[in-house]
Amino acid sequence: MKRNVPILVSIILAGVALMVVSTGPGGKTARAEGDYKQDKPYTRENPGPWAGAESSHVPQITYEKMGKGLMVTVKVNHPMDPKKPHYIMWIKLEDGHGKLLGNKELMATDPAATATFELASVPGKLKALQRCNIHGIWMNETDVKLK
Ligand SMILES: [Fe+2]
Repeated sequence: MKRNVPILVSIILAGVALMVVSTGPGGKTARAEGDYKQDKPYTRENPGPWAGAESSHVPQITYEKMGKGLMVTVKVNHPMDPKKPHYIMWIKLEDGHGKLLGNKELMATDPAATATFELASVPGKLKALQRCNIHGIWMNETDVKLK
């Protein structure tokens, strides 16, 4: 029986190591960004399962001329609550063709869900996307009209 102890210890250690590798050192299964399933971004017109949450999730786009380009501000009127947590994880800006113009990662401890992007040229259309950690990805778009 004593001869089997090292083998038994080895099996237990291997099992523990396998658990750590599969769940991560914190014991929780890591969730990658791609784990979130959503066919297309929610909008004011199509809020998916989150009707009533539009005003706090649809990104607001404002812009002003800056030299030959544009200064764009994207704001989401959403709480940044690190305790729940419930917050906006990122804000992205694209042109009308889906080309990424800017990206800002946010943390739950940030004071507000806002991002400012300085563009060197003026696109015809701006599309803003944001990701709420609970309510998914939301989108808003606007044509750029300068006076
Ligand atoms: Fe939310």
